[in-house]
This record gives sequence, structure tokens and C-alpha cells, in this order.
Amino acid sequence: MNDLVIQNIKQLILPKKTDKPLKGQELNDLELIENGTVVVNDGKIVYSGPYTTEYEATETIDASDKVVSPALVEAHTHLVHGGSREHEMSLKRQGVSYLEILEQGGGILNTVDATRQASEAELFSKAEKNLLTMVQHGVLTIESKSGYGLDKENELKQLKVSNQLAEKYNLTMRHTFLGPHAVPKDATSNQAFLQEMIDLLPEVKPYADFADIFCETGVFTIDESKAYMEAAKQQGFKVKIHADEIDPLGGLELAIDEQAISADHLVASSEEGKAKLRDSDTVAVLLPGTTFYLGKEQYADARGMIDNNGAIAIATDFNPGSCVTNNLQLVMAIASLKLKLSANEIWNAVTVNAAKAIDVDAGTIDKGDKANIVIWDAPNHEYVLYHYGINHASKVIKDGKVIVDNQYQLQN
Ligand code: NIG
Ligand code: FE
Repeated sequence: MNDLVIQNIKQLILPKKTDKPLKGQELNDLELIENGTVVVNDGKIVYSGPYTTEYEATETIDASDKVVSPALVEAHTHLVHGGSREHEMSLKRQGVSYLEILEQGGGILNTVDATRQASEAELFSKAEKNLLTMVQHGVLTIESKSGYGLDKENELKQLKVSNQLAEKYNLTMRHTFLGPHAVPKDATSNQAFLQEMIDLLPEVKPYADFADIFCETGVFTIDESKAYMEAAKQQGFKVKIHADEIDPLGGLELAIDEQAISADHLVASSEEGKAKLRDSDTVAVLLPGTTFYLGKEQYADARGMIDNNGAIAIATDFNPGSCVTNNLQLVMAIASLKLKLSANEIWNAVTVNAAKAIDVDAGTIDKGDKANIVIWDAPNHEYVLYHYGINHASKVIKDGKVIVDNQYQLQN
């Protein structure tokens, strides 16, 4: 007897399990089964495929008007941070740019002040609330960066909170040290501060899987980013980079040369950079919610990257300044409208390819996989992108147990 059968599934989404990220045309390849069945026992998938009555279970969920997919993978967040920056909205309305706000000591540096002032317990409860919102929206695997401490004590504080959250909720999380996220106000020079962050690498290693850096005009140069990535690799980190978000500095080319596991943002990446994706397994993590929130006209050239046989993933970039949403479904809708990606490409980009970008085994529900599943209140996978801005996750199932049940009920 099995624990659970999800029966009569209107549309079952089955991304393909692969060793490498899906690239180019492969991204459009997604198995969709009309009228499917999923069987779960002991927290694992026993069967997923066309309708069958072969399996008995103690519990049955009818999904005759629903879509079923693997739980989503969120590959880029700044989950743990103090404070908020709603006051920046009026600055933005007045035409002050993101980098100008940072130059004036606001932006990331404002969040650094708030994060330094917050206790570990305060950071934990704020991040916990935001994490649980992600889970309610169908995400069960999450990457979480530091980068608002910019010193030993506070970077460690953020990373510890991130690790504690994974432990409390038994969630698959990956933690990223982003010490070189901005240059603090009291630094003697960019180089001196970067060296401080390089020296911290061994101490943060027990709490972080990846090392990341913000390579941007006025923040860290290509040469500095290269030095940091090489030092991090020597310490056993896999590396990531915030690259070409605003200016085309060549961060994508550097990421590929350094065999980064991912290069993130890439709004301003050069043609040469995109062409290099062809011979690389570095995942281009695109964050269209950020472009939207920064009010930019130009989005990352996702189609050009796919034409160059690149591997892409989609994530929120959830953070208090440049993308203040932890609803990955909303960002999937923006990806459809602004990155011109097909529904198949988007679902692969938030499941299997997002998993590759953070080096986890997630994003598939084949036999033997963890039963991390979302039942969507939608008639087909394109509908979730079309009816945008709301939460379509009806039930979120983690290790075979329903942990979120979003019922639409009003109290009279
Ligand atoms: O990925 N660009 C650098 N870092 C974040 C934003 C952080 C912030 O504004 O607080 C990003 O967009
Ligand atoms: Fe980011």
C-alpha cells in the first residue's frame, strides 16, 4: 500500500532528468501528460506518468482540474537581510538611478546598516517569513546569499541564519558568500576591502557552498572579480557572479573562463559573451523581475542566449532594493512577456536548470526522486504565466506530505 496517489491529473509536467543543464533547443523539450497519475510512498516518487489505476494508496487527491509539477527551484535570492527600502521609491520616481543611490551611500549600503544593527534572531524571523512565502508559492529548494554584512561578524551572522532556516524546515538550501557585494563606507580602498573578503573565505567555508561577487561599475572590476573567483576556487568554493547587470563589463566572459556554476543578471552582456555560452555549462541565471523593478527598457537577451545554445535558468533575485518580490510565479510571467520565452522553456528554467545553477538534485519527479510536488490550480502550464501576479499553488507537497494547502475560503 502506498501513502498517496494524485489521480486524474489534467496536465502533468515532467522535466527531463539530465546530468548537464538543458541548453539551446533542449530547453523547449518538456514532457506534458494530459491525464496523469503520480504515486508516492515513504516520501519518494513511486510512479509518475499516464493515468493508471494500478497503484493503491491510503490517500487519494483528485487533480482532474489541476496541473501537477515538481516543486520549483529558486536559484538566486538575498533572503537574509535587515530593514527595507521603500523610501527609495520616491528617489526612483525623481529619476535617481540604482547606482547613483548606491554611490550616495544608500541602496545596498542602507541594507548593510540595517543588517548590522539587526540581531541574529531578528534576521531569522524576517527571513523566515519571506522563506515561508516562497514555499507557499511552490518553491522547495532555495539559494540564499549573504552580502549585507561586509565584515566577518555580520557576514557570518547572515550565513548562520540561512543555515538555521534550512535546518528548521528541513529544506534543501544552498548558501552563498557574497562578501564583495559593495564597498563599505569606511573601507580604505576597494582593493583593501576585497582582500579582506578573500581572507574571510576559509572562515565562511563551513557555512557557504558558493562564493559570489558583484562585478559592476563603481563596485568591483573584472580584474578584481577574477582574483576573487580564483581565490575562492582554491578554497574549494564553486563560484558565481553578478555580471553585466547594468554595464557590459565582460562578466559573462569571465564567468565562462572561470567555469562558474552560474553567471547571473546578464542584461548588458556582449555578443561575444553570449556566443561563448555555446561551449560552456555555466548557467545564465536571468532575473527579469529585477529589470522590471529597476524600470529598465532593456531585458536580458534570453533568445540570443538560447540561439547560442546557452543554458538558462530564471530566478527572482528577491532582495530589498532591486527586486522586492518572493513570488517566483510572477517572475515566470515577466519572463514570458519580456524575455519572450515559451512556457516549456520557463518551466525547465525554474526546475531542472535552476537546480543545475545551484548544484542540487531537484526539479524532477521521476521514480525514486523526492516527492517534492506542487498541485497548481490551473488548467495547463501556460495558464500560470498568463494569469499573473497571484498564487496558483493549491497544494505544496514536501517529501510526500502536504505542507501547504491554499484553500479559498472566506469567513462569514
Ligand atoms: O542582485 N546587484 C546587486 N545585488 C542585488 C541587489 C541588492 C540590493 O539592492 O539590495 C541584485 O540585484
Ligand atoms: Fe542578486
